[in-house]
Formats: sequence, C-alpha cells, structure tokens
Amino acid sequence: MDKILIKGGNSLNGAIPISGAKNAALPIMAASILTEDTLSLSNVPDLADIKTMANLLEPMGVEIAVDRRVNDPQGGQRMDLRAHAIVDTTAPYDLVRKMRASVFVLGPLLARCGTARVSLPGGCAIGARPVDLHVQGLEQLGAEITLDGGYINAAAPRGLRGAKIVFPKVSVGATENLMMAATLAKGETQLVNAACEPEVIDLANCLNAMGADIEGAGCGVIVIRGAPSLHGASYAIIPDRIETGTYAIVTAVTGGRVELVGARLEHIAALAEILVRAGVDVDETENGLSVSRVNGHLKGVDIMTEPFPGFPTDLQAQAMSLMTVAEGAAMITETIFENRFMHVPELMRMGANITVHHGSALVRGVDRLRGAPVMATDLRASVSLVVAALAAEGETVISRVYHLDRGYERLEAKLAACGAEVERLREAS
Ligand code: EPZ
Repeated sequence: MDKILIKGGNSLNGAIPISGAKNAALPIMAASILTEDTLSLSNVPDLADIKTMANLLEPMGVEIAVDRRVNDPQGGQRMDLRAHAIVDTTAPYDLVRKMRASVFVLGPLLARCGTARVSLPGGCAIGARPVDLHVQGLEQLGAEITLDGGYINAAAPRGLRGAKIVFPKVSVGATENLMMAATLAKGETQLVNAACEPEVIDLANCLNAMGADIEGAGCGVIVIRGAPSLHGASYAIIPDRIETGTYAIVTAVTGGRVELVGARLEHIAALAEILVRAGVDVDETENGLSVSRVNGHLKGVDIMTEPFPGFPTDLQAQAMSLMTVAEGAAMITETIFENRFMHVPELMRMGANITVHHGSALVRGVDRLRGAPVMATDLRASVSLVVAALAAEGETVISRVYHLDRGYERLEAKLAACGAEVERLREAS
C-alpha cells in the first residue's frame, strides 16, 4: 500500500486549483437514475469514491462515459450518465460497506422503479452513522420498508406520494435522498429542518435543471412538487469547500501566500472567521480566494462543529492540526459525529499537547511538531496528518494513503507546486 513522505517546514506560495466537490458529485451521480435521458456532468473530481459510485451504478444499467480529454486545466472531468433502463435495483454489501454514500441510490431507485434493495452500511470509523432518517422519511412518502439479511428492502408499487417530513435532526444525506425521491412523487413534499449545506443546494440546482420543481434548498424548509418524469441536463459541480478549507489551513500552518483558484468565500465563511481570528489573512480575489500568513504568530481559537453555515465537521481534524502550533489554547468541540478524534493520538505522537474529554479536545499550542510515522482511519483524519507534517520539523511518513485518495485529487502535485516536499512512496500491495 502506498505511503506519503513529507519533509516539513517549507512555507507555501503559489496557486492551488480547487477540484469539484466530492460530496456534491456523489448524490448528483445517483440522481442520474431518475431519468432515462443523459445527465452530463462537468467538474467531476477524479477520486476513488467517484469510481466506487460509478461501479455501483453501472451494473444497475447506468451507462457511464468519462471524458478526460475535455478536462479543464484544473483536472475536472466530464461524465455522461445515461440510465436508459434500470436492470438491477440492488446495492450490494461489498460496495456499500466501502462507501456509505452508496445509500444515495435508495431514494432514486424507489422513485423510478418502485423497488430497491440496498445494503445497510454498517459501522464507520467516525461514528455509528445510522440511516434511520432516510428510511423513516421514505416510509412517510409511502414506501413499505423491511430490514432483512442486512439489507433495506423498499417497495412502492403504486409510486411515492408527497408528505410533510420533519427531521428530528439535521442530516445532509437524508435531506438529499428524500429530495431525490420526492421529485417523482405524486404531489408536494416539504422537508422541514432540512440540511442547508452547499452540496444540498447543488443537488437541488441539478435536479431543477432536470425538470424537477424544488424551492428553498439552502433554507431549513425545502418544498418539492413532484413531476411525472425528469429529463436530461448538463450540469457543473461546485468547487469542493472541504478541499478549499484544507488548503487554506495548510497555508495558515506553514505560512506563505496561496491563491485557491475557484474557491468561494461563502462556502467557507465559518472557517475564514476562525482563520482571521487566528491571525491569518483571507481575501477574495478575481479567481477565488487568497490565504496568507506572512508575519505574525498563530493564535489559538475555540471551534465548535455544527451543520452549515456553522463550522464543518469535515474540517475539524485539519483545524486541530493548525491549533497544535498556535499560541495559547484552543477548545475544539465536535457535535456531529461521536468518534471523530481518531487523529488525536497520532498528532500527539508528533509532539502535540491535546486532552480529550468527551466531545471536546483542549489543544495547548506547542512551539513545534516533530515528524513521525503516522496513520489514520478516515479521510479527514488522514489529511490532518498531512497538515501537521507540513508544519513539523523533519520527516513524516503517512500510511493508509487510500483514505486520502478517496477525497483529495492530485494532493501531492497540488502541494508540491507551492513548494511543499511531498512524495508518494509506491509499494506493491
Ligand atoms: C455527509 O455525511 C458527508 N458525506 C460527510 O462527509 C459529512 O461529514 C457529513 O455529511 C456532515 O456534514 C457525504 O456527503 C457523502 P449526516 P452524512 O447525515 O450525510 C446522524 C467526508 O469526510 N444521522 O448529515 O452521512 C449521523 O450519525 C464525509 O467527506 C442519524 O442519526 O451525514 C450524524 O451524527 C464524512 N440518522 C448526523 O446525523 C440518519 O439517518 C449528521 O449526519 C442520518 C444521520
């Protein structure tokens, strides 16, 4: 398995192109099931999770053509998905356990075919992550659902019908799954206490381009008026706000100035506020965002993760790496997932001073981190070790690079272009 070797200490200067958003592209790919026409996507990131979603959709009958020749210089790819006829409505355990986002096929399959059999995802490194809100919402739309042999068996032989669904808890995935299902339901659906993440808005915009009638995405209440069918569309995926935030944090921790090309400030406003309070400059430019810390020390700032527009849980680990070398202390509180501090022991092996108590981590800043062999159990924890390694003295070797390949396109190349010493050590598996 590949590893990544980083020699820390260089400040970063230059430009980093931001790729298309993984977490927008995944549900949008699943939305192709909702029409027999072609859904033409651009700015799709070239990532392991995107390939896994393609591997899930193809046996169902979705024809997928990827065109890398029309890539923009930033590496985004074009992908045409055509679900002319759905021949299989099963999402098997082997793929779902690899990637939980596979559950996004449940709503579209049920809406289009009236039946779906999707494996329950099972455990996850960052928390229990149940899918009860997806299942309960679909039942409220009229689906009959049974759990059997580790699978969700869903049927709606007479089609789905609109309903008012009040989520007891904000869920990005449940909002997206139900929004997709409701586009082909009879009548009106209201999703109350819906997630407001930019990826939810992107999915709604794509569905509307396909002929759906969705209002209110990005607000707490989404109204969907069902249509008899959807049609094909061309749609460009938004830039990845978590990749944006990760490279903003990298620049803050190493010092220097980096332009994040294509990035949107409104997508990372909560992080930008923390960075500014920590002593980092964040400015909009013609092409995106500029992040710089040329003089001056980092200062510790408290952070609490919340649903959008709050501070994203997907940037919590990276922000913690930043705070390990800030002056003073920072209290970092995780409210979304119960087990998202897996990076803490690894950061401590690099010299960080962190005390965890339930959902909060008290980070006391140290003068410097020192390189060490490290590994992590999920995507964002892994990249937090990249952040720490770039700031650390000496060499760090990060194992289990496959986590990074799930969510960061051309990570080493993007960092190296700005002056980081990063090398992939390829090993036969
Ligand atoms: C999405 O996961 C993202 N994944 C995650 O990104 C992200 O961390 C998360 O939203 C929160 O922002 C994709 O978009 C593919 P949730 P999702 O449903 O939809 C609980 C990354 O690193 N919950 O908003 O699964 C759940 O356990 C990944 O890119 C239920 O209780 O997250 C959690 O505590 C990791 N029942 C909370 O809600 C349910 O049925 C929010 O989860 C669903 C969720």
